[in-house]
Amino acid sequence: MERRLDPLGYKRIVRERRGSYEPLFASGVWRYRELLPPIDPTSIVSLAEGNMPLYEAPGGASYAGVDRLAYLHLGMNPTGSFKDLGMTVAVSAAKAAGMRGVVAASTGNTASSMAAYAARAGLEAHALVPRGRVTQAKLAQMLEYGARIVEVEGSFDDAFAQLDRVADGALQIVNSTNPFRLEGQKCAAFSILEQRGWHVPDWVVLPGGNLGNISAIGRGFREALELHLIDRLPRLALVRADAGTQTRATAIAVGIPQSRERASRELHESDGIELVASDEAIFAAKARIGREGIGCEPASAASLAGLRILRERGRVAPDADVVAVLTGHVLKDAGAVQHAAV
Ligand code: F0G
Repeated sequence: MERRLDPLGYKRIVRERRGSYEPLFASGVWRYRELLPPIDPTSIVSLAEGNMPLYEAPGGASYAGVDRLAYLHLGMNPTGSFKDLGMTVAVSAAKAAGMRGVVAASTGNTASSMAAYAARAGLEAHALVPRGRVTQAKLAQMLEYGARIVEVEGSFDDAFAQLDRVADGALQIVNSTNPFRLEGQKCAAFSILEQRGWHVPDWVVLPGGNLGNISAIGRGFREALELHLIDRLPRLALVRADAGTQTRATAIAVGIPQSRERASRELHESDGIELVASDEAIFAAKARIGREGIGCEPASAASLAGLRILRERGRVAPDADVVAVLTGHVLKDAGAVQHAAV
């Protein structure tokens, strides 16, 4: 990336934009538009995404065994997941390119987000989902926003393999293999930094499925470093479901992550770590997050579960300053609460 800007001046500008009434700057993605691909403003489709809270979580900190923990709650986005950060850019780009519609394979959240942004853009949305493995809430969102749903036998990987059969020249694939998605999602890193006064945490822990999000967040931190907005990188911890495609954290039931190479690079660059958590550990962590009045869908709780495991193994120091990323809203999988043993 060959961009130069005055770091202090830029921090001031994004802060001023946060308080402005300019509709585009109601978005915590487009406030960073200099750091995004250039898209004609008349094509931009935004739902005021990207304004996520960073919640201090003393209960979660003591559960995991660290001094300081905060949750960046990406479930507090317009469609209830982190996907909105990337989808605003990907759908805007598809609209600018004159596409007829968009298509994605999904465990539910990508497709819910795609459906909403496509509806706002006046584009068709086609969702390929694994039959019987997507929550009611996510299917309801897709239907509400007018998406066409194709249920595929098997797992997310089988749905992904069908993508090329549905996509034609006028239907843009908006899975995280679409580079515009990652550009938007990298703004989650800027949000963490901005809300902490650009003070870098020691660790950022997040759940992984297709590994688009860690690729994007890792890139966001690296760009912030290159632009001298920060002077070091946080270490990244990626937590996947031990049960693979069979996990009850259905959002991350992915067998073959499409962004494996990019994710491995980000883990390497940040001196990061990858681990798995059992469903038991994920659901226990989810209950703990709920008891602190925050709540999340099961996949998100993999971050707290993973942090606890890293502490038990001595990989994260007790005095570490940690941000855990919560990726989806508690109501995305209301049924999952029955599994929680508190
Ligand atoms: N958390 C939630 C709630 C998700 O929906 C996903 C992915 C992830 C974490 C993992 O993110 O794939 O970038 O590593 N959901 C995708 C979907 C697979 O289709 O909605 P990732």
